[in-house]
Amino acid sequence: MLNIYDLLRNHEKLISESIPLIASENITSLLVRACLLSDFGHRYAIGEVGERVYSGCQYIDQVERLAIELSKKLFKADYVNVRAISGTVANLAIYTALSHPGGKIAAVPVEFGGHTSHFDTAEVRGLKTIKLPFSPENFNVNTDEAEKLIRKERPEIVMLGASVILFPHPVKELSEVCNDVGATLVYDASHVLGLIAGKKFQDPLKEGAKIVTASTHKTFPGPQRAVIIGRELGELIKRIDRAVMPGVVSNHHLHSLAAYVVACMEMIEFGESYARQIVRNSKALAERLYELDFKVVGENIGFTETHQVVFEGSAKDQLLLERAGIFVNVWPSTSLVRVGVQEVTRRGMREEEMRHIADLMYMCLKGNDVREEVRELAMEFDKIHYSFSVDKAYLRDFDFKI
Ligand SMILES: Cc1ncc(COP(=O)(O)O)c(C=O)c1O
Repeated sequence: MLNIYDLLRNHEKLISESIPLIASENITSLLVRACLLSDFGHRYAIGEVGERVYSGCQYIDQVERLAIELSKKLFKADYVNVRAISGTVANLAIYTALSHPGGKIAAVPVEFGGHTSHFDTAEVRGLKTIKLPFSPENFNVNTDEAEKLIRKERPEIVMLGASVILFPHPVKELSEVCNDVGATLVYDASHVLGLIAGKKFQDPLKEGAKIVTASTHKTFPGPQRAVIIGRELGELIKRIDRAVMPGVVSNHHLHSLAAYVVACMEMIEFGESYARQIVRNSKALAERLYELDFKVVGENIGFTETHQVVFEGSAKDQLLLERAGIFVNVWPSTSLVRVGVQEVTRRGMREEEMRHIADLMYMCLKGNDVREEVRELAMEFDKIHYSFSVDKAYLRDFDFKI
């Protein structure tokens, strides 16, 4: 029987010899990972900072204060909740705080890249879900039609942000109609949080969103958890805090909270150059794919302003690329392949490598065996960049046994 640690090591080897282009993932620095091994992961910190139910929380309190303080600085927010343990949990908490069973939420349809938590999770909360009108031509919410729909349906929540997102969403444009009908405009920044922190994407709070929810492990290179931020929320603050904890969280995963603090420090220091390179890379990849005759979405509008590139393709293409060591995914129920460059950018790749990856994808889908060339490129970029120490990106030498 394979040892559990062999399986982990095999996985590290697989990823380190591959080009991971899954748009919803990233890698963390060793400094971030070190926090995940700490004793914090064995503890609870129930209650408020400084007023915990269990003894022994004085250092945990300091970490939670730091997490809040650094998030406020990074996202220019005056309200921050760092206790949701995933993006879906953050969204569920927001639905609980802002809506009533039987009420309505309007969000980007899943078939155009919306996230299941804007539909399935909202339905679990008892909300009726409405699809925001979407224009495939410019891969964005159709602002005029959305405004009409919001006026007619009067949802309690309008959710912008999505899992497939190439361009800024019309936050400013829809904030007025949301105010008119009493809807709260929420922006799910799970995918673009690192770009927002690095000032390379729309700032939803500045443009009129009331609340931003986000997971912290996609373009934001932190541990798997979430953050909720807002400005001038007044009375809402108590409702959101209570909805998160004790509402949907009782243990807020303190090792990963500490890891999030380190990721915030990295983003304060390196976030702008990281985000800038991510967008340069996604554009370079899109342009080269387009030259190679891939049907890339957004050809007339610059292809992308995020970490993502989308092109027409099939499950068979995904499988062929996977066999070559290039990991992508077809967006469910569509013929669109979504790729993200945030992880390879963190490995230090730049525009030249993006063009090389596009060429490898082309060769692979034309039936050539490019596995060895993919392995060589991957192994050449095996260090983490935009962090305080230069570490191996993956733990191939993981030396544990039972
Ligand atoms: C837009 C969006 N919101 C929420 C989530 C859910 O986040 P988590 O996986 O942390 O629950 C995702 C995950 O991919 C997402 O893309």
